[in-house]
Amino acid sequence: MTQGDAGAVAAPSAAEYPQDKKSGIEDARTREVRSSLSEREIHEWWEADYLNSDLNRFYDQVFDRIIQTLAPMPGETLLDAGCGYGFHAVRLARRGVQVTGVDFSEVALRRSAATIEQAGLSGRIRVQRGDLLDLPFVNETFDYVHCWGVLMHVPQVDAALTELIRVLKPGGKLVLMENNASSLHVQMKSLARLVKRRLGRPGKQRALTPWGCEEWELKGTHRFLVRASNIDSLVRFCADRRLQLTDRFAGQFTELYATLPGRFLKRVTYKLNELWFKSVRRPALALGNILVFQKK
Ligand SMILES: C[S@@+](CC[C@H](N)C(=O)[O-])C[C@H]1O[C@@H](n2cnc3c(N)ncnc32)[C@H](O)[C@@H]1O
Repeated sequence: MTQGDAGAVAAPSAAEYPQDKKSGIEDARTREVRSSLSEREIHEWWEADYLNSDLNRFYDQVFDRIIQTLAPMPGETLLDAGCGYGFHAVRLARRGVQVTGVDFSEVALRRSAATIEQAGLSGRIRVQRGDLLDLPFVNETFDYVHCWGVLMHVPQVDAALTELIRVLKPGGKLVLMENNASSLHVQMKSLARLVKRRLGRPGKQRALTPWGCEEWELKGTHRFLVRASNIDSLVRFCADRRLQLTDRFAGQFTELYATLPGRFLKRVTYKLNELWFKSVRRPALALGNILVFQKK
């Protein structure tokens, strides 16, 4: 199902991106995302909007909850898949696990090395280059696999999930943080989009796929995928591979702060997110959903 309105940012068409027969697992959309994310620009934008120091309090509360759920034993190992600038790898290592971070972006890896050194955690975290579609680890390597805000940018989400599951030990836990297509945030965005179209202002193209609602964002000259996930599809895919959902909780309620002007309004939404996380808690309406699976 594709909502094919003419948009400022065109979604790649099937003709533009024929399936790559040679590699079998890699298609051209994947190559485009990899190329865009090799640039500093998008990572800097993510840091400014989604990882700035005003958000530390919220993330610290969320990672306390994640670690409480995982209850790791000393020395247990965790893969942070798509570690980016390494801020969450540091949060996880500080809470007791031995972390291996992978990312396919050299820009991200260089910066994560600096983050880790500054935090004095070089003995607890190592990072290396790796692609979620072909992880450089043998089967059943890690006690935990953590993947925060990464699958939403991966066109071949099924291939990436298969890899995350492959490197997890039996009995191990997989933690995913993905945006929820049924959240109020996404529903309000859809409504705003409808109103804009009525007013003759077409927005981005988007496609409704079995994995969720997919849009292509443009930063400078670089295009990359952002998906609000169909959470049921993720849960079903994992269940079919003998991974049982053991916990699902709300992360942030909204990411409206990223588009609001001025620090005051942004801070109001940070507070709302904290309130939702601590008091309301319902994941079904929240944008950020944290899913914890256990592998049989
Ligand atoms: C939105 S950032 C999230 C970074 C980090 N998990 C965090 O929450 O701070 C997404 C990261 O995933 C990485 N990434 C995306 N697709 C990937 C893939 N197929 N293999 C490895 N890394 C990938 C990007 O380079 C980027 O650093």
